[in-house]
Amino acid sequence: MRTIQPTIRAVAGGLLAVAVAFSLASPASAAGTAEARGRALAPSGAAPIAIEETGTLAIARPTISGTTRVGRLLRATAVSTGTVAPRVKMYTWLRDGAPIRKAHASTYRLTSKDRKHRISVRVAAFATGFPTVKRTSASTERIRFRVIDDPTNSQVVVNKQRSLKPKAYAPSGLILPSISNNGQRLRSVAAHALERMAAGAREDGVTITLLSGYRSYQTQVAVFNQQVATYGRAVAEKQSARPGYSEHQTGFSGDLGGAGGCPITSCFAGTQAGKWLKKYAYRYGFIMRYPDGYTKITGYAYEPWHYRYVGKKVATDMKRKGIKTLEQYRHLPAAPTY
Ligand code: DAL
Ligand code: ZN
Repeated sequence: MRTIQPTIRAVAGGLLAVAVAFSLASPASAAGTAEARGRALAPSGAAPIAIEETGTLAIARPTISGTTRVGRLLRATAVSTGTVAPRVKMYTWLRDGAPIRKAHASTYRLTSKDRKHRISVRVAAFATGFPTVKRTSASTERIRFRVIDDPTNSQVVVNKQRSLKPKAYAPSGLILPSISNNGQRLRSVAAHALERMAAGAREDGVTITLLSGYRSYQTQVAVFNQQVATYGRAVAEKQSARPGYSEHQTGFSGDLGGAGGCPITSCFAGTQAGKWLKKYAYRYGFIMRYPDGYTKITGYAYEPWHYRYVGKKVATDMKRKGIKTLEQYRHLPAAPTY
């Protein structure tokens, strides 16, 4: 056992030097003023020795590691640079310089509130007898969405558990693909991929058309209400997304048709176009988003006409791995209901 009684004097640089007298329980020889001081401090009356030390409590400017995307974890590191190790460190995470409520651990999980803001962290180091030392990190770059949360990103996952953010999101960069398009637009990257896909199908004598592409929040209000009025709510929920929850609102999805009829009907699966798409769409970066038998995961009945652009890399990877839904591919929870 030992007790420590620091005496403090200010030194240059704002740090403090501390003289500490120790008294040790084990007897040892000592003499002079040191011994006198030690004895004066000893609580037990054990024969003390005294050692004088000076120390500084200091930490380096904290650093932040981790990925600056919503949902990811940031970690603060504040290295002690003094001779006295901090007994406790307290962390305060800051959003644009203002403390974030209840964010006092060494890690911080980014939330959608942090998006477009900069995050920093203040670390306070404590040691008994020393004044608190506080240092603040540099700010991160602006926090971005994860790709699966970002409605502008072709990797976004939208389902009954994952609305668009914001729900009334409207993309820019929509164009009419240069195929039979029913006046329907898509995000340009998806439109050009669809043009290439339709050209590939044409070489095999198969016609691909676009029947429904981008649908705004307001259009989806009308579509969903129409579905409810026609089929009743239970059926409508299995085949139409509520506004703010439709992939069509991203501009990356298209309901595709062909020359064999069955538009937006399950018999499309049996048409030339339906069969061709099921086999080859992945080569152009599209996946059938609501496959047969996956309603419990996607929340929707079989839609052999609804194709979603995810890019060649992901579509090919899903094909190779035999993964049928984006939920499974991204290890996301099933989304059978809202
Ligand atoms: N038919 C699909 C699920 C939609 O409404 O987005
Ligand atoms: Zn669709």
